[in-house]
Amino acid sequence: MTKALILNSAVTGEASISNRLTGEFAARLRERDPAARIVTRDLGARPVPHLLPETVAGIRATAATDAEKAALALSDELVDELRDIDLLVIGAPMYNFGMPSSLKAWFDYILRAGVTFRYTENGPEGLLPVKKAVVIETRGGLYSEGPAVAMDSQEPHLRTLLGFMGVTDVVFVRAEKLGFGPEAVQAAVDGAIAELNGCAERELALAA
Ligand SMILES: Cc1cc2nc3c(=O)[nH]c(=O)nc-3n(C[C@H](O)[C@H](O)[C@H](O)COP(=O)(O)O)c2cc1C
Repeated sequence: MTKALILNSAVTGEASISNRLTGEFAARLRERDPAARIVTRDLGARPVPHLLPETVAGIRATAATDAEKAALALSDELVDELRDIDLLVIGAPMYNFGMPSSLKAWFDYILRAGVTFRYTENGPEGLLPVKKAVVIETRGGLYSEGPAVAMDSQEPHLRTLLGFMGVTDVVFVRAEKLGFGPEAVQAAVDGAIAELNGCAERELALAA
């Protein structure tokens, strides 16, 4: 049985293509595995707060004040969601060449030394059981090839953050050129859905 957590991070709600694609992927997983347990957290609609001077010690040091304890409780809740999954699915629009700040804020809450990763002589080591992720990236332009490749601060950053928590088996599915008109959108969405179908089939063959 697949146990997945879906993180959406678009702020565009019903119009969001990344939300639509994570939804399509969840539907494919459920079609093939009706017992699949899939939890969705919408960071775009309900963002976790940015870390503040009043809260940061709750996550990075000792929680003493009420605000620090609340931050730690939220962090624990987010980490608990990661403990019992075998697949992390992230819907990640490109905002100003990177990931949405709500998704970055989520990583700020869950990357905790001694809890989700530890430093070893061989570098950082993830402490969570989940090793696999499907990251769905939506972009107005084209960054996987051509002159804008070097401007992509989204995919390398996500790969680094996931690697830090031990999620090293990562498939990136990109829907690009979404700002190039309806035909380009249709082609990008069709291509992404075909890739996601393949991911769902492989995932369930492995889980079987
Ligand atoms: C605040 C904001 C910043 C954006 N920055 C970029 C960008 O740097 N590069 C790009 O190609 N597209 C950019 N876009 C376009 C989005 O990546 C594109 O519309 C994508 O479809 C958004 O995902 P969504 O449909 O799930 O909302 C930006 C959109 C927004 C709202």
